[in-house]
Amino acid sequence: MPAHDLVVIGAGPGGYVAAIRAAQLGLNVACVEREPLLGGVCLRVGCIPSKALLESAELYSQAKSGFGRHGIKIAGVELDLPAMHKRKEQVVTMLTKGIEGLFKKNKITRYSGTATLTAPGKLKVAGSESVELEAKHIIIATGSKPVALRGIQLDGDRVGTSTEALAYPSVPKHLIVIGAGVIGLELGSVWLRLGAKVTVVEYLNRILPGLDSELAADAQKIFEKQGFQFLLGSKVLSAKADGPEGVVEIEGREPLRGDRVLVATGRAPNTEGLGLETLGIKTDQKGRIIVDTQFATNIPGIYAIGDVIPGPMLAHKAEEDGIACVESIVTGHAHIDYDLVPGVVYTNPELASVGRTEEQLTEAGIPFRKGVFPFRGNGRAHSVGHVDGKVKVLAHKETDRVLGVHILGPHAGDLIAEAVAAMTFGASSEDIARVCHAHPTLSEALKEAALAVDGRPIHI
Ligand code: NAI
Repeated sequence: MPAHDLVVIGAGPGGYVAAIRAAQLGLNVACVEREPLLGGVCLRVGCIPSKALLESAELYSQAKSGFGRHGIKIAGVELDLPAMHKRKEQVVTMLTKGIEGLFKKNKITRYSGTATLTAPGKLKVAGSESVELEAKHIIIATGSKPVALRGIQLDGDRVGTSTEALAYPSVPKHLIVIGAGVIGLELGSVWLRLGAKVTVVEYLNRILPGLDSELAADAQKIFEKQGFQFLLGSKVLSAKADGPEGVVEIEGREPLRGDRVLVATGRAPNTEGLGLETLGIKTDQKGRIIVDTQFATNIPGIYAIGDVIPGPMLAHKAEEDGIACVESIVTGHAHIDYDLVPGVVYTNPELASVGRTEEQLTEAGIPFRKGVFPFRGNGRAHSVGHVDGKVKVLAHKETDRVLGVHILGPHAGDLIAEAVAAMTFGASSEDIARVCHAHPTLSEALKEAALAVDGRPIHI
């Protein structure tokens, strides 16, 4: 029976990063993955292909109707959707090959198949090859899958999840998106930009739950101008295919019909068939594996990271979990500050945030001051023609320590990195305000918002 110091189950961002870090630390590492491609949902059918399509769709929409204002005239802009999909697939293939290369470089053994835990320190892999393995340590990094709400009949065609929406063979005439969360708005944006009518049905009275509500409301207005139609406060009761259409039944409203329905109502941990029950590994009521601060489950030698444990279901959080878990196994120490995990929504404009929202601070009774700076006061934003949105800095009223930063605007996903770094080092808003920011850059908007905390922004 092959034996390893560590076997990682799942080669998504959490699992493959954990495997590489463990190899760096000198462990004999194996990784089990049931899909032919390494990289997990994020790389195969999530973050990466969606960003590839978002970029292509944005370029198409700019070429169609955005270049004129830059004094560029183009006639006969046409969509070649198969070529767009091909480029997306090439991006995915290149990156998965990259992980294969990293596995080889780090001498990580790969097993292809589905892993099941059979006893503490033992698992079997069933796939093209069937093998039993022994491991001193096992990390479960099996990720998550879309939640299938009761009443929704996914047929993998008219009514599907993000996986299908990344590969529609033609532009939908009418795409109905169930759920105004991250997936719904990102993939809704792709197809809207390519010409679809997009209706988003959301149970809550707002879009993007969990994000700063002021910025989410601002974003909603911008998205509506782009053509999104939102049905908020609308509970979807059922959805099913009906010939070439999908029909969505909504509480208290007429049913909606569209040629495609995207179900984006959240994700649930992937733990089926893992053998958790056999070993008595504890899960919570949402099916997430319960771990301690060092990612250990209640069974010695078995750990879990990423989307299968509580916390934000984000690739970069899974990566941090993976590194911390392995370092804890080898050194006994690990630390992650979950308050400092940034979140990004790749719409146009992007939304990005880190730390607490105003609502959370108010609810927790933490006194704060806020500084807001709109991108229309930023020279670079005008130069590039993206002046929608704002930066909001929330700092403790007495200590001035930055507690949250929220950005709606161009390149928000990149701009948030400075805020995360500053907060990681315990910065005050005064610290950020006194950092010299290059001019003209979008990053000056963060400095100005930090100045605004103290009522002294320069350009507004
Ligand atoms: P989500 O949790 O972000 O949003 C789901 C939405 O569906 C919520 O607004 C919810 O109120 C709504 N909903 C639930 N039941 C409903 C019903 N019956 N009728 C109408 N609306 C209903 O989930 P989403 O967008 O599926 O994303 C799943 C996970 O993937 C999230 O944790 C997200 O953070 C992550 N993700 C992150 C990305 C990023 O970081 N850019 C990109 C894509 C996904």
